[in-house]
Amino acid sequence: AITLKAAATFPIGNIVSANRLSGSDNNFTSILNKEFNSITAENDMKMGAMFTGQNTYDFSRGDAIVAYAKANGFRVHGHALVWHASIPTWLKNFTGTDVEFEAQVKGYIKATVAHFALAKTTDGKSVVASWDVVNEAFTNEALAGPFYAKLGPDYVAKCFTWAKEANSEVKLFYNDYNLDSQTSKVKSVVDMVADFKKRAIPIDGIGSQMHVGYSYPDIATISTTLSPLVGTGLLIHFSELDMSVNRDLALTSFTAERSNAQKEKYKSIAVLYKTIPSAQRFGITFWGVRDNDSWLRGWPVVTEYEWPLLFDSNYGYKAAYTGFLEGL
Ligand code: XIL
Repeated sequence: AITLKAAATFPIGNIVSANRLSGSDNNFTSILNKEFNSITAENDMKMGAMFTGQNTYDFSRGDAIVAYAKANGFRVHGHALVWHASIPTWLKNFTGTDVEFEAQVKGYIKATVAHFALAKTTDGKSVVASWDVVNEAFTNEALAGPFYAKLGPDYVAKCFTWAKEANSEVKLFYNDYNLDSQTSKVKSVVDMVADFKKRAIPIDGIGSQMHVGYSYPDIATISTTLSPLVGTGLLIHFSELDMSVNRDLALTSFTAERSNAQKEKYKSIAVLYKTIPSAQRFGITFWGVRDNDSWLRGWPVVTEYEWPLLFDSNYGYKAAYTGFLEGL
């Protein structure tokens, strides 16, 4: 049978951890290798995982992921250099001056981007093709967080500039949620991109996380909010796609009705993605393989009654898979 990566005209990604890749779960790696050609570290390449102390970095798990990618022909999308929700404790409690804090962040971005520029494919390209430089800057928590407070309101531009200085080839993304539904946030991002262009601040792409629901936002809303993002001319990554089917937790089993709705919605998302000009299609990355791997089983509440992904908890292909494949 055909696979996702064979059917698609753009890369199809999923998330990994170094643990998972080195573990004994061959079902995981065989689906990953068969269906996908791009990987993102779910947590291992976040600042909270790699920035262990002042001017001190632990790249070991990221390196293991990159080595796996290189050996198996995957592209790696780096995620995420700066995110208010993944600050190492020592940095959160930093007692130095704002100038010293900024030097730490700058040093981290430069060291990390430079380090992950080293692994090359056999045709000489960087295995790590891209980075989410800043994640979720337009949330209340981010505006109240130390990056904003200590580096100043222009901190997003600063981070992009440092990343570019460390590797002029790697694609630089701004990544955020609700870009599938929230007009005001889409406007903030589009305005930021316009401002970057005016000031010659480097940016290559926008990541729309796409943590969607089976009914909300509907595909018309997703399409309407996508359009100004595409209008920037930048690469567009659906970077963390999953689909909640039971947000109100009214169900205790995955019904046929909900399964069918999910199938149709995944199909329309694939169809919608193809309306993006091909040169701007960076790819679609799913935030998990099996339903029981999904972060949505732990957030916003712990539940076993959520079925957001393309594979069931036994690695079985769901109707959602078939729908998405049909849309490709
Ligand atoms: C999540 C991971 O899936 C969880 O394992 C972790 O505990 C928290 O982060 N937006 C993002 C991702 O950009 O990094 C988040 O990933 C999900 C929401």
